[in-house]
Amino acid sequence: MIHIGVDYYPEHWPRELWPDDIAKMKAAGVTTVRIAEFTWGLLEPREGEFDFEWLDDIVKQLGDAGLEIILGTPTNCAPLWMYRDYPDTLQCEKDGNPTFTGIRGHRCYESPRFRKYAARIIGEMTKRYAHDPHVIAWQIDNEPDANHCNCPECTAKFRSFLQAKYKSLDAMNKAWGTDVWSGEITRWQDITTPKGPLYSPNWLNPGYLLDYERFAAQSTADYVRWQYTLLRQAVPETVPITTNACFCGHTIDFHQTFAPLDIVSYDNYPEVRIPEDEEAVYSTAPELDLMRGVKQKNFWIVEQLSGPKGCWGPMSETTRPGMIEGYGLQDIAHGADMVLQFRWRSAARGAEMYWHGLIDQSNVPGRRFAEFEKLCARVKELDWLEGTAPRAEVAVLYGPEQLEAFGIQTQSPGLDYRPQLRAWHEAFASYGVNVDVIAEDAPLDRYRVVVVPCHFITNAKTVANINAFVKAGGTAIITNRSGVKDAANGCVMQALPGAFSEVCGVTVSEYDPIGERTVKVRMGECELAGSLWADLLTPTTAETVAVYDSEFYKDTPAVTRNAYGSGHAYYVGVCGKRALRRAVAKAALETADVPHTELPRGVQLTTRESDTVKARFLFNENETAQTFTVGGERITLQPFEMRIDRI
Ligand code: GLA
Ligand code: ZN
Repeated sequence: MIHIGVDYYPEHWPRELWPDDIAKMKAAGVTTVRIAEFTWGLLEPREGEFDFEWLDDIVKQLGDAGLEIILGTPTNCAPLWMYRDYPDTLQCEKDGNPTFTGIRGHRCYESPRFRKYAARIIGEMTKRYAHDPHVIAWQIDNEPDANHCNCPECTAKFRSFLQAKYKSLDAMNKAWGTDVWSGEITRWQDITTPKGPLYSPNWLNPGYLLDYERFAAQSTADYVRWQYTLLRQAVPETVPITTNACFCGHTIDFHQTFAPLDIVSYDNYPEVRIPEDEEAVYSTAPELDLMRGVKQKNFWIVEQLSGPKGCWGPMSETTRPGMIEGYGLQDIAHGADMVLQFRWRSAARGAEMYWHGLIDQSNVPGRRFAEFEKLCARVKELDWLEGTAPRAEVAVLYGPEQLEAFGIQTQSPGLDYRPQLRAWHEAFASYGVNVDVIAEDAPLDRYRVVVVPCHFITNAKTVANINAFVKAGGTAIITNRSGVKDAANGCVMQALPGAFSEVCGVTVSEYDPIGERTVKVRMGECELAGSLWADLLTPTTAETVAVYDSEFYKDTPAVTRNAYGSGHAYYVGVCGKRALRRAVAKAALETADVPHTELPRGVQLTTRESDTVKARFLFNENETAQTFTVGGERITLQPFEMRIDRI
């Protein structure tokens, strides 16, 4: 079953509205409602005094209506009395002072006292609802981000993390290279979380900063695992436990955080304004494929764009006609088995009143709600997708350490890890092939093409996997800024692409961090272009696929291809503009003999299949109608139209 529904905040509305809301949900075709993830203050208004009457009531009303409920543990926002009476439960800023309360998400994950109270409120919830047949899943906290708290407890935990990792100060000093600028650390207790308001973090030691990000990711993963264990003791095995991921604030390590959980959930807020710039990569398809890749399993969307975004900045444009329906179905096309819209109704009070829901504060259902009703009706017809999932022959590797390391040291103006990953994803997706985005050290045997974008921090397992994959006949694409660093975020003292030089049959003799400047590139007869980065390449065994056609390195290789074992490795020394990336992607698909299709920009073709049934999804992520040919059939799709065929 594909679940369709909403995030609902009954606590924001007079109770008289609840029955009417529920009736409207039912009439629209909602199956699933997520509630309660920010309600600790109401559930425990004073220390140890619990009030579940209102939650019992809404759980009963939703259940009686036959709606499925996802219950959030309310730990994202601890009640203000806790911060007042126990300041050690509050996160500290970089200056060491406790953060200002009354916002949200400012609990310290590592605070033993916070955990004690969190365990108690979770216990109160599971006591009541663990066996409620209408509660079909639990969500841990809300959008936990990587722990950047600077309190004494977190500082101590960071020290223990380093001690466990390095055993001796000597080993740590060596790994980080603290002899630069007299940075030798002589006592464990001298280590702090990164501070320094005077200078940006770029002035701090990159080895130290990367280890800090590793600690921050691990601390959050520990916190989530801790809640999972508490919940799992109370909640039946058949009831899945998840948390909702996003790319915001300090990004978590998705693979580590979700490892103990039953299912991956993601909060999806795609572009409202489709950029006119032909170079812009605007789809959230890469993130959807990344979320599916975390467990290599279908996933859930527990927050989906419903109207203008706002609050944290000026409001965005409203969702264009077709977007609510089209984006919801796009989630499903990429392997989501649940889509919940954020949110049922826009808030009338509080900081988030301009992050719009399906219905506005007036409570008069309008255009957006009508479109949601259409989405519900279409989802209802998709039962035949049961047991299907996207299967891909192309994979793009993702590593959280690459993301962090690029954040710590900008390589060239405009060059960043996630945009490069997204761009490579788009290059392949534009040929109508499914793309998996998987952990950089995941097994590769099921793929025919593997893309390794900007693998900056060398992961020995990735290198071994890629070597074996290519040797066995696979086609790999390795891009510039790969093999640059060792695990301590120091530069390798060998010709780049370092550990990938052998499989690529090429070395980098020099590089040119060109920022926004455009360089010309010639690939066969085609005049193409790149920017951001230009490696000057010396092939050892590789053949040249494309050459620079401008700059002082005109006529020297920009893209190479190496035969290695029974397979091939492309090395892409320049960050291609879209046409160049697509030309390389096409060459790789042809080398690997992967069937592909030409599609207009923004049109996506994906599939879901089981052993018995296959679905084809054609989506037009454009504000204009698109006409194209697939499998001999002439097809026109209106803006944001999704066509689903059983093939
Ligand atoms: C995040 C949060 C939601 C809400 C939305 C919109 O995704 O999880 O609670 O704040 O953003 O801003
Ligand atoms: Zn802390």
